[in-house]
Amino acid sequence: MSFPRSSRLWWRDAVTYQIYIRSFADGNGDGKGDIQGIRSRLKYLKNLGIDAIWITPWYPSPQKDHGYDVADYLDIEPDYGTLSEAELMINEAHQLGIKVIIDIVPNHSSDQHKWFIQAVNSDPGSKARDRYIFRDGRGNYGEIPPNNWHSVFGGSAWQRIIEKDGRPGQWYLHLFAVEQPDFNWDNQEVHEYFEKVLRFWLDRGVDGFRIDVAHGMVKAPGLPDIEENLSSEMLAARRLPFWDQDGVHEIYRNWRRILNSYPGDRMAVAEAWVSPASRIALYLRPDELANSFNFDFLTSIWDIQDLKRNIDLSLQAIQSVGAPASWVFNNHDVVRSVDRFALGLRPGVGETTFDRHGDVSKLNLEIGIRRARSGALLMLALPGGAYIYQGEELALPEVRDIPEDRLEDPRWFLSEKTDKGRDGCRVPLPWSANESGSFGFSINEKLGKENSWLPQPNWWGNYSAENQEHDPNSTLNLYRKALEIRKTEIGLGDGELEWFNMSDQVLAFKRPGNFACIVNFGEAFKIPNGEVLIASTSIEDGILPEDGALWMRLA
Ligand code: GLC
Repeated sequence: MSFPRSSRLWWRDAVTYQIYIRSFADGNGDGKGDIQGIRSRLKYLKNLGIDAIWITPWYPSPQKDHGYDVADYLDIEPDYGTLSEAELMINEAHQLGIKVIIDIVPNHSSDQHKWFIQAVNSDPGSKARDRYIFRDGRGNYGEIPPNNWHSVFGGSAWQRIIEKDGRPGQWYLHLFAVEQPDFNWDNQEVHEYFEKVLRFWLDRGVDGFRIDVAHGMVKAPGLPDIEENLSSEMLAARRLPFWDQDGVHEIYRNWRRILNSYPGDRMAVAEAWVSPASRIALYLRPDELANSFNFDFLTSIWDIQDLKRNIDLSLQAIQSVGAPASWVFNNHDVVRSVDRFALGLRPGVGETTFDRHGDVSKLNLEIGIRRARSGALLMLALPGGAYIYQGEELALPEVRDIPEDRLEDPRWFLSEKTDKGRDGCRVPLPWSANESGSFGFSINEKLGKENSWLPQPNWWGNYSAENQEHDPNSTLNLYRKALEIRKTEIGLGDGELEWFNMSDQVLAFKRPGNFACIVNFGEAFKIPNGEVLIASTSIEDGILPEDGALWMRLA
């Protein structure tokens, strides 16, 4: 795909910044992020040099899974603002040349969605129940769940309801929290509803959607049991009857027709935890979504073979359908890469807190930060688009010592408090070094670091945007400079990549224009002749230290 950038669709090259709205910036002083907060930081994002923002669910929600339990898809959570404020924000972002992607959650709603309330209050077999997945239980009294599926967060994936007559009755499916009932995508009304939801937001100017659990909506006919001892993790080792069923593709072909009926190259990106890469390619077909997070990349450890293999597999897979790659190292569901790269953790893999979060006593943040900075240069030089999760540009580590009585992730509760879950990567951002407030997160100066929705650690201010602003070597300035180079360097973004061999501990590739990206996983070594454009670390006498990376123009 080597046509010039100006003639490429914007999303083939875009660098998108993920805003976890609850933790980004608090503009009304209640300790939770909001739309006002986003508006106040648009200039920062513009300065950072990103092309688009993706905002996690901002709909009215009981917040059992922080917005991923949607009670009304056509409005804004009152704690976050109003619909007119959202429209204002979309316009302001557009004026700054920033595209806006919102999250859509079609696999499940909140149990407070009006349809689910109706379903519970209606009879078995009714039209209202058919919008969700209700079944009779097994056993003499229907006391055994309809099948053996587990929830991703822990425990059974079924919850029994009390019928109108006061007796225990049918069960409903919830692949996630109990308060997140799965929709029945065999029901035409569900299809029509989501088509309406898409149009509602497209009419308000959004440029695209991030589709939550995009591989989950369709379940295998008959809801067959899974083999005992298989877990329901999102990135399953095997195809399970609730992940990656072929029927999902028909839904996306319809959605593509809707996106295409609007001007301005509206896009969608799938959260499809699907492996191998060849299965992802199906979601990327031109008449479907065209974009999907590259979770093989995200689940790589800091290891040259692992990363290279995953990059190769991804590039091969997307080539077959002509889609751009979407690289990602971080999001609101996984341990931050600073910690992962230091500890050799694979996110999303592992059954317990220990597997997922690793051994704190072995954590060397200096190494983690060094690798995360190199990872940034690697990711931003690869062909295609990339996603940055808020705070990644500050090299924020995971917060590992949130007091247990402050944890809010449903994974913590559903795992019976054996898995601390994902709150450690969701702590409200440190904007300033001001320890007496909430490090600039809230406009309410009196709020204090303990009183945001998740408490901030004492050391949070060291990583603040303010502290990094004037330090030319800060991670924030590394991202800014890399993104600036990326804008003008003709070989970056979508296009070709050519590996070249330096040593088995050096990952090196060329992009058009004599551009090279070099990442060193082994001992310090002498770089080739040419001009260094940017480096993750200081280069003396042409020596690139271990865990360092750079971009250069080869002589
Ligand atoms: C997605 C979201 C995650 C959420 C889950 C259920 O994986 O990224 O945060 O808990 O879906 O909606």
